[in-house]
Amino acid sequence: MFKHYPSFLFRYKYGENPALLPIELCRIVTSTHNSANQPYMQLNTPSAGNLHPLELYVQIRGIKGVLSGIYHVNAGEDVLVLIKEIESDGLESLLGMQKRMNGFIFVLSSVAFRAEWKYAKRAVRYCYLDIGHQIGAIDTSLRLHGQEMTILSDFDAEALNEFMGFGADEFVAAVMTSGVMSSKSVQNFKQNLMHVCPSDYSELSDYTRELVAKCEILKSDIIKVASKVQESDILKRRSSRFFDTEALSQTQQKHLLSHLSQEHYPLSCFTIVLKDGVLKRGVYRNKILLKEGDFSQQIVSLLVDQSFVKNADIITVLCSKYFSSNKLMQAGAFGHALYLDAQVNGFGCSGIGAFYDKKMQDFLATDECILYVLAFGVEKKDKK
Ligand SMILES: Cc1cc2nc3c(=O)[nH]c(=O)nc-3n(C[C@H](O)[C@H](O)[C@H](O)COP(=O)(O)O)c2cc1C
Repeated sequence: MFKHYPSFLFRYKYGENPALLPIELCRIVTSTHNSANQPYMQLNTPSAGNLHPLELYVQIRGIKGVLSGIYHVNAGEDVLVLIKEIESDGLESLLGMQKRMNGFIFVLSSVAFRAEWKYAKRAVRYCYLDIGHQIGAIDTSLRLHGQEMTILSDFDAEALNEFMGFGADEFVAAVMTSGVMSSKSVQNFKQNLMHVCPSDYSELSDYTRELVAKCEILKSDIIKVASKVQESDILKRRSSRFFDTEALSQTQQKHLLSHLSQEHYPLSCFTIVLKDGVLKRGVYRNKILLKEGDFSQQIVSLLVDQSFVKNADIITVLCSKYFSSNKLMQAGAFGHALYLDAQVNGFGCSGIGAFYDKKMQDFLATDECILYVLAFGVEKKDKK
């Protein structure tokens, strides 16, 4: 699940330097227990099958008390590993910037094999949805620290892959910055970063490799939800595994529906209300009721018989006109904002990537692509 750079490299331990907190909260282990004699870690970001097929890097420049350089964010060991110190050189030179930027430059990569061994061809989708969640998590942490995230998309991704030392199993998926431009010019790097395998073995298929290699990087701004997320919300977020038969309060329903019924270009959003409350049970697109009725059994079967969703209050289905890695990342980032909003407002949420695409399209009477499904409801405390 975590890439390991050599132990001789300098590293900052999480918690050692307060200036690094905005980065640490982007990607952090929030639960560890034992499963089959192996440590089972869960992060602040959800992930299909908890496989986390991605890596996060950050260039830090001009932050008092921190060595300027390119770091690997190794959440598994709670460390930021310095891969390369920088001075007049920097990632800016590969990202179309003429000047040095003081602050952070985040590079997110996909490591599809971590998901592919389990999910085969569907892994590519989960990979980009997970990356979308990670983008949402970066945005949240930065906003919590009064900083803004800017997405960069006009650069040569292949050149960046090469510089980062990514081999045939890792590919850049998104680049975001947070900082201020200085007046100092930036130099090209003289040497690429070292190559380190992102998994201890890989049998990535040509199918997936070709797909991720040619996939577009994150292009458009992400959809945000105006919730007041605190550090504790980031650390406590978990996916709901059980929903109660009890319904969400009217206030919670209204709150959630207010997000789901807005336009979220380039995504569109179908909402299936499973319990009567603010709205009648049925299928909605924005505020329009498309069909009325109790669809809980149908939804369970469309979601590959995942029976835990039958007691959810509301299901949302995120779609787009075309399938692309950019849209999947958008859906993941929006999903992340909804997860955290549920945490802030005291209800449960789970992302769902397993569904029958064609049957779901037929059920919704749409020809749009189904990207991601999220279920919301009252988290069941007693899980017996
Ligand atoms: C893209 C994506 C797809 C997911 N699909 C499912 C799913 O189909 N069924 C399910 O029960 N959970 C699903 N999950 C939730 C994961 O199982 C969960 O995130 C993971 O076990 C880690 O737990 P945590 O979210 O509590 O950290 C999905 C999560 C993501 C991000």
